[in-house]
Amino acid sequence: MTHESAARAAEAARRYYGTSDVDGFYEAVWGGEDIHTGVYADAHEPVAVASRRTVELAARKVADRLGPGSEVLDLGSGYGGPARYLAARFGCRVVALNISEAQNERHRKTNAEHGLDGLVEVVTGSFQDIPYPAGRFDVVWSQEAFCHSGDREELLGEAVRVLRPQGELVFTDVMASDAVPHDVLRPVVARLEVEELATPDFYRRRLAGLGLTHIDFDDRSDQLLTHYLRLTEETDRRATELGNVISPAYVADLLENLPLWVDACRKGRMSWGIFHCHRN
Ligand SMILES: C[S@@+](CC[C@H](N)C(=O)[O-])C[C@H]1O[C@@H](n2cnc3c(N)ncnc32)[C@H](O)[C@@H]1O
Repeated sequence: MTHESAARAAEAARRYYGTSDVDGFYEAVWGGEDIHTGVYADAHEPVAVASRRTVELAARKVADRLGPGSEVLDLGSGYGGPARYLAARFGCRVVALNISEAQNERHRKTNAEHGLDGLVEVVTGSFQDIPYPAGRFDVVWSQEAFCHSGDREELLGEAVRVLRPQGELVFTDVMASDAVPHDVLRPVVARLEVEELATPDFYRRRLAGLGLTHIDFDDRSDQLLTHYLRLTEETDRRATELGNVISPAYVADLLENLPLWVDACRKGRMSWGIFHCHRN
């Protein structure tokens, strides 16, 4: 992985999240607030409810660091559901760094509607080159965004650089299971314009190499299967109605691609969970 592949991947993510089909899918099927994997209380729970539970679980891990006066950096912040949750629940400041200007516009508007624009600052930029000085943030947070990186060594180096001593990094990500060859998952992740996923082992080694301590992976890989079953069910059940907001061709693509995720999860080829670690 090189700086060029990182720039290519960042541009692909910017394009992907700026298309109206993708935007319509995340709005209609995921709920348009939290666009990451959910933690389900039962197999029929709405995607948006389960996805909010993931934010609550991750927040609990870093709650000691959050409060008025503390500052969080959210990398790849989407529509801002997690940033708004953190600001509203803990009174902390959140800088939300995201490559997609289309999402950022909506994020800023929703923050203003919720009276949270004083606490959440939305910044357009890439997490490969974080525009802040070393040691600035109490918590670096990210959900389902590192999967888009074209150079995760560089990205993690950046995330740790901007953490204050005793600061904490918490993130969720869709990963390949350890020892699964990249080629096997290529058709699965092609929809996201992603070439290659990280593995839990890669994150453990890289985080340790960067000197982080208390490295914990809360492995919730079973939730990824439930999540993609729910996304497939919802897209299938609502295909006709979705055809009014998403192009019928994209609905058809989704109905081909989402079952590939389900299949890969059933075969144990994909991992997901919450990483949490500390800086000395
Ligand atoms: C699946 S969405 C998750 C959004 C948000 N974290 C959430 O959980 O709701 C992935 C996000 O990563 C962002 N992203 C991808 N590559 C990026 C990069 N190089 N720099 C900053 N953001 C990036 C996308 O724009 C998108 O908002």
